Amino acid sequence: MILNSILEKIGNTPLVKIREVTKELSQQVSVYAKLEYFNPGGSVKDRPAYWMIKKAIAQEKLTQDKIIMDPTSGNTGVAYAMVGAVLGYRVELVMPANASQQRKDIAKTFGASITFSSEMEGSDGAIRLAHKIYQENPGKYFMPDQYNNPDNSEAHYETTGVEILQQTKGAITHFVATMGTSGTVMGITRRLKEHNSHIVCIGAQPAHAMHGLEGLKHMPTSIVPGIYHEKNLDEVMWIETEPAYDMAERLGKEEGLIVGYSSGAAMVASMEVAKRLKAGVVVTVFSDHGDRYFEGMKW
Ligand SMILES: Cc1ncc(COP(=O)(O)O)c(C=O)c1O
Repeated sequence: MILNSILEKIGNTPLVKIREVTKELSQQVSVYAKLEYFNPGGSVKDRPAYWMIKKAIAQEKLTQDKIIMDPTSGNTGVAYAMVGAVLGYRVELVMPANASQQRKDIAKTFGASITFSSEMEGSDGAIRLAHKIYQENPGKYFMPDQYNNPDNSEAHYETTGVEILQQTKGAITHFVATMGTSGTVMGITRRLKEHNSHIVCIGAQPAHAMHGLEGLKHMPTSIVPGIYHEKNLDEVMWIETEPAYDMAERLGKEEGLIVGYSSGAAMVASMEVAKRLKAGVVVTVFSDHGDRYFEGMKW
């Protein structure tokens, strides 16, 4: 395979059957996970970051003189940084100071600069600071605004959702995804429902305002993303941090999948759904790789 650039490798990630963790389920129920860490920037966020930037260039909102700047809890920042490096745009990220060290290091290695917002204010602090910087510097930045930009969820409508239908040959009955900006769940849900309105679509979020599930939002106590429409979902599930951590560990030991904690949360939610079923095909998304969370690993 020869690529014109690494960006051509975004998408078309594998769908893998979860075999051991699911042993207690009825034989007629299967669970599959879309391994988004196979994207070149290492997470699901490569898709919307590239999509939003491509669209902005086509619409001349992003020109060579502008700097790409957006609030991010980490993975989107890495994705912007990678896309910016390939396409020749400067990238400035606004991240909570307590985002994982690996993500900060990776974004910097792609050449991005980072402004840190208060670790006490989580992703909402990064949103507020980014908007302030944008307003104080008219004309300097292009802000994709991933929380409010419909092109975020459109990336998943046009790519991830289509891939899931193709990979399951349309057999999917239930879809489960965790929510940060909600772009993943909103875009895939729209695609799946358009194909078959009976596919049950579920969004999972942290059960409490204070949680350890980096990348995810507890909507009731957060700035609600403009692209989030709860009414489009069949169900919202609430996930505790501890079981999600334990599940991420099990996925490594039992399935050979080293995943981030939000993937643990996605699997906890998927198991809850799968246990209710006599027959069905549950599909979920593992958003990133667990090595981004290893403490102390420094390049
Ligand atoms: C690790 C992780 N999991 C899940 C998500 C949620 O994805 P989305 O923003 O599409 O809702 C994110 C978003 O940044 C993330 O970083």
